[in-house]
Amino acid sequence: MISQTLREARKYEETMEAGINGGRPAFHLSPRVGWMNDPNGFSYCKGAYHLFYQYYPYDSVWGPMHWGHAVSRDLLHWEYLPAALAPDTAYDKDGCFSGSALELPDGRQLLMYTGVVKEPRTDGGFQDIQTQCIAIGDGRDYEKYQQNPVLDGGDLPEGGSRNDFRDPKLWMEEDGTYRCVVGNCTGDKDGRILLYKSEDGIHWDFLSILAENKGRFGRMWECPDFFKLDGKYVLLTSPQDMMPRGFEYHNGNGTICLMGDYDEKTNTFIEEHNQAVDYGIDFYAPQTIAAPDGRRIMIGWMQNWDTCNLRDTERFWFGQMTLPRELSIENGRLIQKPVRELESLRGEEVRYENVVFTDTIRLDGIRGRKMDMEIMLRPADPENIFHKFAVRFAQDETYHTSVSFRPLESVVKVDRKFSGSRRAIIHLWSCHFGGEQKTV
Ligand code: FRU
Repeated sequence: MISQTLREARKYEETMEAGINGGRPAFHLSPRVGWMNDPNGFSYCKGAYHLFYQYYPYDSVWGPMHWGHAVSRDLLHWEYLPAALAPDTAYDKDGCFSGSALELPDGRQLLMYTGVVKEPRTDGGFQDIQTQCIAIGDGRDYEKYQQNPVLDGGDLPEGGSRNDFRDPKLWMEEDGTYRCVVGNCTGDKDGRILLYKSEDGIHWDFLSILAENKGRFGRMWECPDFFKLDGKYVLLTSPQDMMPRGFEYHNGNGTICLMGDYDEKTNTFIEEHNQAVDYGIDFYAPQTIAAPDGRRIMIGWMQNWDTCNLRDTERFWFGQMTLPRELSIENGRLIQKPVRELESLRGEEVRYENVVFTDTIRLDGIRGRKMDMEIMLRPADPENIFHKFAVRFAQDETYHTSVSFRPLESVVKVDRKFSGSRRAIIHLWSCHFGGEQKTV
């Protein structure tokens, strides 16, 4: 049964979509209409990739969360399906927050998400109460489980906040049982990741506190993901309110990768290494999928909570996803590469070799709004290395966006100060080339 709220949202998006003429990114998924944040339910079902997203169709700002829905066969061309979830029940009336999906052995698709209810506080304000809920469907229409929520405040370990208990990411173990990780924090907002277990994907039991922040990386840990990759265990999470640390971690909401081992006796993560997941300006709340061919593929929200209020009010949509990336571990570090499907989009090749330059150059044929560019750079004189190399994209007299590299300091900078913004928001982020100080 489709609720009135969901029916209205579906009707609205179908009608409004027609009014969005062009101006959409060519292969980054954007919302059908209105607002998009986190990727949700990234999964493979009946031969297609499914990607849901945090969605408010009625405006291009964040509002009561729905789940938008799109499918793709190649992770680059997406087809919209009708909105999958709307905040239409007593336990999720204030939002269907982030969550995940998987295909059940009988072919149905299971969605697990956070239901939000605003509860009045004694001081006159409101507080979010967050619980985990289930919906099951055929890849297009989903029915919320009668006994929702499946996890609530009673399933929290001691000291766990009921206000920050969200973003379940579930998977099936080799023995056919299910696990999920959920973001949580203690009363003083220190992030931690909880691990739950289920026999059928529907009835869940608390297993352990998988990992704890202990005051190191920001505060509440949102949108966790946990998987095995190249012989290691990887825990991804997006901490809110981070403090900067060198060039590795920037202020604000970031995404970290914790790498290590897993203790099967205590069901806890043994942390060995940490690193930032993205050094660019816009990246948050990624989610991964184990693709049928074994690749671990990640997609993230190509935005940042600190800058997302800046938008073009003429447009009826806001927010987009990153390109999907293939993950691997090399020399103990998380490595990301654009999905190989991208190669099929390449058109005419323009190639230059042995171009020697000392000043600004423009190369004929390298132009246009979409391109895939690879640059191999070598100092002409290894004894006297150049100080700075930069590529300026979309340049005219007024605008450009630059990516620069200073080999002597091993610093890469992304600068969009001249990209057309009238606001003093974050425009520049730097990182060490390769994630750590290196010499060229
Ligand atoms: C992360 C997040 C999630 C939450 C969702 C709400 O960006 O804050 O923790 O589920 O967005 O839209």
